[in-house]
Amino acid sequence: MLGQRVSEALAEAGAQDAPPVVGPATRPEFGHYQANGVMGAAKRLGTNPRALAERVLAELDLEGIASRVEIAGPGFINIHLEPAFIAAQLDTGQPLLEPATESMTIVVDYSAPNLAKEMHVGHLRSTIIGDALVRVFTALGHHVIRQNHVGDWGTQFGMLIAHLEEIGANSEQLSDLEMFYQAAKRRFDDDQAFAQRARSQVVALQSGEPDVRAAWRRFIDISLNHCETIYQRLGVQLTRADVRAESAYNDDLQDIVAQLDDAGLLTRSDGADCVFLDQFTRKDGTPLPVIVRKSDGGYLYATTDLAAIRYRCRTLHADRVLYFVDARQSLHFQQVFAVAAKAGFVTESCELEHHPFGSILGPDGRPFRTRAGGVVKLTDLLDEARRRAERLVRAKNPDLPEAQIDAIAEAVGIGAVKYADLSKSRTTDYVFDWDQMLSFDGNTAPYLQYAHTRINSMFQRGGLVLGSLSGRMRLAEPAEHDLGALLIRFQEVVDQVARDAFPHHLCGYLADVAARFMQFYESCPVLNQDEPIRTSRLLLSQRTADVLKTGLGLLGIETVERM
Ligand code: ARG
Repeated sequence: MLGQRVSEALAEAGAQDAPPVVGPATRPEFGHYQANGVMGAAKRLGTNPRALAERVLAELDLEGIASRVEIAGPGFINIHLEPAFIAAQLDTGQPLLEPATESMTIVVDYSAPNLAKEMHVGHLRSTIIGDALVRVFTALGHHVIRQNHVGDWGTQFGMLIAHLEEIGANSEQLSDLEMFYQAAKRRFDDDQAFAQRARSQVVALQSGEPDVRAAWRRFIDISLNHCETIYQRLGVQLTRADVRAESAYNDDLQDIVAQLDDAGLLTRSDGADCVFLDQFTRKDGTPLPVIVRKSDGGYLYATTDLAAIRYRCRTLHADRVLYFVDARQSLHFQQVFAVAAKAGFVTESCELEHHPFGSILGPDGRPFRTRAGGVVKLTDLLDEARRRAERLVRAKNPDLPEAQIDAIAEAVGIGAVKYADLSKSRTTDYVFDWDQMLSFDGNTAPYLQYAHTRINSMFQRGGLVLGSLSGRMRLAEPAEHDLGALLIRFQEVVDQVARDAFPHHLCGYLADVAARFMQFYESCPVLNQDEPIRTSRLLLSQRTADVLKTGLGLLGIETVERM
């Protein structure tokens, strides 16, 4: 609403179709907003930003919204919001989030482990970040389609099947898929004859031989069960129905290559079918191909991704497709997106977006591994998180009822792991640090969960139920203003996450909310205050709890009643 007013004033002042102009000031003071768009608009118009800002001010009518408006710096407009305006936005009748004006169909490709092995720490980021975006889009009223593009095809399965055949179908050994995989891998590396058998099993698998298919299905099933256990523990909203595995595209691959050929994009190089695009070259300037069919007729990861793009655009009618995949696959996605666009697989209205992320590092700054140097299994990691969280909550509050400890420790432990990931800028690597993520200070899940429990227990002490109060508040004290002005920004922060897929902005915002609440709580007594101030402060606290709980919920993190 504020943004719209400023945009209108900008248009009146001669800067049409200015982008969204009202952004929060980088350090939001009480009710203090900055209209940054003036700068950009002035640049496009080739006018002096301060002069344009003057004209905008002359047109700007913020009666009832702002108490004071001024030009700052080279051409920012600072808007000091009216306390009554802030209070009205926080009225219990006002929803925390409004749905997006235009509901889109959004495909989110996330998690996507390779099913030959057990899920390990390498899949954590995609799973957690993708899930947060799914929740954000859903909350904004979009039609979200989850796609778990699991790796269930290729040579690794030949290896597993050959090993299964060798040791006999002993399902006990299969219960630890990771160990089974390692054993098969050793056989593959050490024994030529075994490696040969593994390769012929791949051929048998691909030609659809019933016995081999059955063995393969068994692996897939065990592996997916295992993933589902992890998803449930993580509170990730992925089910079997969301799995659309690589193998689901097998029947499309021949046609994909044929269409590339029809489009005149195919070049034969050393017996393989390739697509060369001008923009992709090696360091030495030679052209870099996207291989879509090997000389032995086999298809590749890229071919499958081309088929997936066509399916998502043409069959699912996606408006946006977001891929949460490791930064190391950036070139792969640039290439397949470009090839798919050239081949006409991508619809006019569809945006393909790779949202890369960095690696999780160990304390030594190298890729995170177990002490023995192996991959860190997610099950083990989550067990450890739970154990550490239990120690933490027992120390913090020795009076917690024994019956509740389990649930609290799980929520705090899992929440800490997820939040540690979500709160770091997605594109950089980060060091996995138990002490930091399980600290009650700073930008952590326990800090936010704790802030929420404090509001909850305040209501309990007052004999009230959180969420049951209604009415309008009055913001009189500076600490109340500050908190209120921050709370009304919830929507714009969530909108921003939906745009850029950087959930750490929401984390930072929630940590600010919790910190402002603590400041308010220290300077403004609530329960032992006279009416109407008491109810007004309770309402402000209730709204804070609502923002914290909803915000954490969008990140896939649970709140608890006490801790
Ligand atoms: N299974 C792949 C991996 O673990 C990730 C798949 C990501 N999604 C995609 N459409 N390529 O590296």
